[in-house]
Amino acid sequence: MLWILCVALCGLLTGTRAEPGALLRLGMGILNQVQTAMDESHILEKMAAEAGKPQPGMKPIKGITNMKVKDVLLPVITLNFVPGVGISQCVSTGMTITGKSFMGGNMEIIIVLNITATNRLAQAQETGLPVFSSEGCKITLVSVKTNLPSNMLPKMVKKFLDSTLHKVLPSLLCPAIDAVLVYVNRKWDHLSDPMPVGQAGTVRYALAATPTTTASYIEVDFSPVVQRPEGGAIKVAAESEEPLALPEGYAEGSSQLLLSAAFLTRQLALLQESLDASVPERKVGELPPQTTETLAAFIPDVAEAYPKPKPLVTQIRINKPPKVTIKSGRSLLHLHGTLELFAARGRGKPPASLFLLEAHFNLRIQYSVRGNRLRMATSLGRILSLSRGASSIGDFDEKALTGFITDYLQEAYIPVVNDVLQVGFPLPDVLAVNYNLAELDIVENALVLDLKLG
Ligand SMILES: *[C@@H]1O[C@H](CO)[C@@H](O)[C@H](O)[C@H]1NC(C)=O
Repeated sequence: MLWILCVALCGLLTGTRAEPGALLRLGMGILNQVQTAMDESHILEKMAAEAGKPQPGMKPIKGITNMKVKDVLLPVITLNFVPGVGISQCVSTGMTITGKSFMGGNMEIIIVLNITATNRLAQAQETGLPVFSSEGCKITLVSVKTNLPSNMLPKMVKKFLDSTLHKVLPSLLCPAIDAVLVYVNRKWDHLSDPMPVGQAGTVRYALAATPTTTASYIEVDFSPVVQRPEGGAIKVAAESEEPLALPEGYAEGSSQLLLSAAFLTRQLALLQESLDASVPERKVGELPPQTTETLAAFIPDVAEAYPKPKPLVTQIRINKPPKVTIKSGRSLLHLHGTLELFAARGRGKPPASLFLLEAHFNLRIQYSVRGNRLRMATSLGRILSLSRGASSIGDFDEKALTGFITDYLQEAYIPVVNDVLQVGFPLPDVLAVNYNLAELDIVENALVLDLKLG
């Protein structure tokens, strides 16, 4: 019986398993930008202005006419994580309510209060984006002072507070909380938009699931979609599916973005064709002249076939998707392909193929960030295998060519790869983050960007 259950369940699990991708951890540092959001959106000032106008449905305060709200204090916002739910928000502020009292005098009530609410974090059904919505908005009066004569204070103020202020203030101030959330939610609007990788395709940071909240951070799990312009999504080989985990040990309140090696591999697949190269220049970097004469020093048969030196043309075709590995402090780009060497012939004649080599080599990757893009620059690691395919100059020992090919890759091919990689890979549009300041760490199977606020 058990195995039937397993077949059913395990099938379900592997079927729904998301592509390993990226993971975003948001600490309190970034969320405290909500404070800025409150300032930027001038919510409370707008509220105060609104309060000055007659409100439909708002009960007049008994005994006070011509009521106005003014001098709203700059709000202080305190946020805390509520595990499994989202964030609790407390806005501490104050304001002055003015009006004419029923005795005809000018009246001022100075109140200090807290507006508290829970901002529940969910995933919007229609857009798939993270969305905050507020629940349980409540007003707590911290202090109330008035300019009314003290002999009529206790009864009057008590009645005023109990019967009216508690009814009036929530409808006046709770929309401020919602307005802040609208503002914050709008900052996520473009989180999952497709972003171009040059002309080669797009990357879209789609959410894998509803974001989760712990006692010290919010975690957003992405299942990014890497797509070619004509529409085919790039899948990852099954072997590289590893559960993603961010290492602990980052500063309290900090935020990180983790990009898996499998995700980087999928993005590089977009560039596979651009990595093909043909270098016809006779003089490349520090290399000796690329001619049949130079080659003959390694393979004497070449001199027999071409007694008069001819320029060499080397064609590289990458015939498997490139693969990124990230291990123990270093990251490599593995390339599999063919190198075919040709001898140029006279004008109008196509170059003649000398031989073809199957090669597997790796490049060391250096990561950096510029703008909202992850950049890679490479240098040659080593040649892992070299084997001879078709040859028009007979048999020879391809091992003899290792040095020649290594020099060629380093001087002629690596610049081509680095040129292609200039395009950069888009990073998700996260509120308030300045990626240029991010610190990069290499961890097992992933690259971590320790994010800083801009
Ligand atoms: C008002 O909010 C502040 C900040 O969160 C808190 O320290 C204070 O105790 C609150 N006061 C009341 C009366 O709830």
